[in-house]
Amino acid sequence: MKGKLFLLICFLCISCILKAADKPVIKIGTDRVNLIYKVADNGRLYQSYLGKSLNHASDIAFLPMGTEAYLTNGMEDYFEPAIHVLHNDGNPSLLLKYFSHSVNQVSPGVEETVITLQDDKYPVTVIMHFVAYQKEDLIKTYTEISHKEKKPVVLHKYASSMLHFNRDNYLLTEFAGDWATEAHMKDVPLEFGKKTLDTKLGSRASMFTPPFFQLALDGKADENSGEVIVGSLGWTGNFQFVFEVDNKNELRVISGINPYASEYSLKPNEIFRTPDFYFTYSFNGKGQASRNFHDWARKYQVKDGDKDRMTLLNNWEATYFNFDEKKLEELMGDAVELGVDMFLLDDGWFANKYPRSGDHQGLGDWDETADKLPNGVSHLTEVAKEKGVKFGLWIEPEMVNPKSELYEKHKDWVIHLPNRDEYYFRNQMVLDLSNPQVQDFVFGVVDNLMTKNPDIAFFKWDCNSPITNIYSAYLKNKQSHLYIDYVRGLYNVLERVKAKYPKLPMMLCSGGGGRSDYEALKYFTEFWPSDNTDPIERLFIQWGYSQIFPAKTMCAHVTTWNKNASIKFRTDVAMMCKLGFDIKLEELNETEEAYCRSAVKNYNALKPAILEGDQYRLVSPYSGNHTSTMFVDKNKKKAVVFAFDIHPRYAEKTLPVRLEGLDTNKMYRVKEINGMPGTNSSLQGNGQLYSGEYLMNVGLPLFTTSQLNSRVVEIVAE
Ligand code: DGJ
Repeated sequence: MKGKLFLLICFLCISCILKAADKPVIKIGTDRVNLIYKVADNGRLYQSYLGKSLNHASDIAFLPMGTEAYLTNGMEDYFEPAIHVLHNDGNPSLLLKYFSHSVNQVSPGVEETVITLQDDKYPVTVIMHFVAYQKEDLIKTYTEISHKEKKPVVLHKYASSMLHFNRDNYLLTEFAGDWATEAHMKDVPLEFGKKTLDTKLGSRASMFTPPFFQLALDGKADENSGEVIVGSLGWTGNFQFVFEVDNKNELRVISGINPYASEYSLKPNEIFRTPDFYFTYSFNGKGQASRNFHDWARKYQVKDGDKDRMTLLNNWEATYFNFDEKKLEELMGDAVELGVDMFLLDDGWFANKYPRSGDHQGLGDWDETADKLPNGVSHLTEVAKEKGVKFGLWIEPEMVNPKSELYEKHKDWVIHLPNRDEYYFRNQMVLDLSNPQVQDFVFGVVDNLMTKNPDIAFFKWDCNSPITNIYSAYLKNKQSHLYIDYVRGLYNVLERVKAKYPKLPMMLCSGGGGRSDYEALKYFTEFWPSDNTDPIERLFIQWGYSQIFPAKTMCAHVTTWNKNASIKFRTDVAMMCKLGFDIKLEELNETEEAYCRSAVKNYNALKPAILEGDQYRLVSPYSGNHTSTMFVDKNKKKAVVFAFDIHPRYAEKTLPVRLEGLDTNKMYRVKEINGMPGTNSSLQGNGQLYSGEYLMNVGLPLFTTSQLNSRVVEIVAE
């Protein structure tokens, strides 16, 4: 009897496997990660697996079916759907069946899988795209929605991605903050119910929370241990991440545009293409996940990701709006003194009827203020050329002050509610980029400046106001498209700028770090993470952003915020990103000035490690009174370690810092650099030759008990 039962079970198992075998199994893979979809007998698509790569084909048949891949509204699921469509006949449901899939090699190491799903009753198609970056263990995914009904359907929800997890516990790291407290990290356990991270700012993704997260599975993930997914949405507007744990403790993560106030009326045959969602999966902690993102960003995503970056002197905090030609010429001289590559002229150089003497007027009128700059920008670019520095210029082309000629002429271009009092954020309003004429105008700001002044070598593109008083005169009865069409309009403009000026580097700024997303970075070489340049705060802010962005994309300027910190401490902090200065040289004494000059030289020499290398976060500022980060160049020949004592306690015990990323078998000379002129290093072991093995297992005594002390240590293979 037992034998017969055994045979019956075997028969049932084999027939199940065979049945599954004639249904497609779709394996999306990177070097270390697999995302596997299966088609069930009901013809629907299921996410069967997401985890470490499975390399034995025969095992795949044993995987459980999992959860339906892209869950729809109105059917059997009781939790948050990925998509919600209202058909012409008023039916609000969708049932998606597998139709086809294809795989194509985009370039060496990059493979795209496309899965087409179709409703079995309505002519609605959903195409899921997955681009897998092999070496970087990163997957980019987006969705295309279209239909062939007679009239438009209404999209109420339209996720870029839906991922499913079935684990014991989930720990979310969020990066919520505010102006000047960006990217602060906080762990939040996910339990039954929903956690939503979203924004409704319209013209930027972030102010209170940026469009990225970390999700640790089955316990906490540290720098070098734990399973962690790091995800981010490429959308410079309202975004939403929904994390929902259901009755079976299964988690779904839905990422996309925030559908808030954004029902989208989709015409027959029009394709609604969602933004990209990018995620990486690391099995050994957050450090690896960050390095995956950094490598991918530099190679595939960021504008000129593989190119050098310019050091600069910015005049914003040195002068604010109070400057003239002579002052700027002096500052260009300071840039030369410092040895930086570029002088960047910030806000305050434009408008005549309402000169930009403060932030309350002039935005929108992009002619040089005649009495401030009688010889225009062209004269400034000439002076810069004579002095041997590049010239960069600040613009904020999407915005308008009500006190401006642009507002007087073109109120119809301004997003505002026609019958209500206007509300101003930083005394300004947002231009309506859903309107193609406005797109032309915004493109024209860059184009006219470049045509008149072809020597402009850089733009800082600012965007200080979220969308307020939301109403578009252009969109008429399609107001619920405005949030989406604004961002699409912005991309149209940026695409035109990039096409016409492909070599022009640009920094993206948004009242601090409001625009820190990877779609924007297709058009920008770098971004401004925060207006807060207090070096202590920056240690936290940069630590937060470094989880996802490489150092070369993050601008860090030495300013006078927190003068309790020495110029060395402030500069050492800024050197961990893309270095710039925003100070008055005249306020520095000779030694400080000499220090800055040598810091610029050191920075230039360290660029292969800091800008192009691998970043290792060694000691977290969240863990106590010290922090340390290191960068190792790709061939492990040169590294640099930054160490900071913030506010150590009296007689506090400090432990050696163990380095990472070196070659165990190489011998490295350790040398403290970037000291104040005339001071000697107190680093124990300074100048000694150590093996990589020693440095990584024993470490260096980098920390001290001095307040606001910093060290930069060069590690060079011999
Ligand atoms: C906000 C930016 O964050 C600052 O760096 C500066 O450019 C000002 N805008 C200029 O108005």
